[in-house]
Amino acid sequence: MKNKEKNIKIHGEADIAETSFEGKLSAETAGFRQSEQYMIATVISELARNIFIYALRGEIIIKIIEKNNKKGLEIIAQDNGPGIKDIGQAMKDNFSTSEGLGLGLPGVKRIMDEFVITTKAGAGTKIMVRKWV
Ligand SMILES: Nc1ncnc2c1ncn2[C@@H]1O[C@H](COP(=O)(O)OP(=O)(O)O)[C@@H](O)[C@H]1O
Ligand SMILES: [Mg+2]
Repeated sequence: MKNKEKNIKIHGEADIAETSFEGKLSAETAGFRQSEQYMIATVISELARNIFIYALRGEIIIKIIEKNNKKGLEIIAQDNGPGIKDIGQAMKDNFSTSEGLGLGLPGVKRIMDEFVITTKAGAGTKIMVRKWV
């Protein structure tokens, strides 16, 4: 996939690795250095795993973006799952309802420059994150 926008459906565990790999490729195309490519891949893996664990299915959209001659990557993770009842609690370090070894949502927020979460109990979750080169 060489196009600027990728839309990957998360239906099973294998999709987590695929979307993470595609994210790394997009990060490379956008001009991120290698260490950042890996951090972005980890972020995508975390968001995709959350979809798989909590919502069972959803999608990840990976987009190369540009603003004021600056390139970046936008990642949208969305699902129609159960939503998050208490965002404040979900965003707390060390809060976890699963056995996640990952960085969790607080880690995702730390790595990325922009983080917007829209969710409602029973109405799904949408997380939009951006990082600039
Ligand atoms: N897509 C999602 N749908 C529903 N709940 C979610 C979703 N993503 C995260 N959550 C909730 O937010 C909490 C925090 O997520 P996270 O920081 O990734 O930690 P962990 O996955 O290790 O529990 C999760 O325990 C879960 O309750
Ligand atoms: Mg998680």
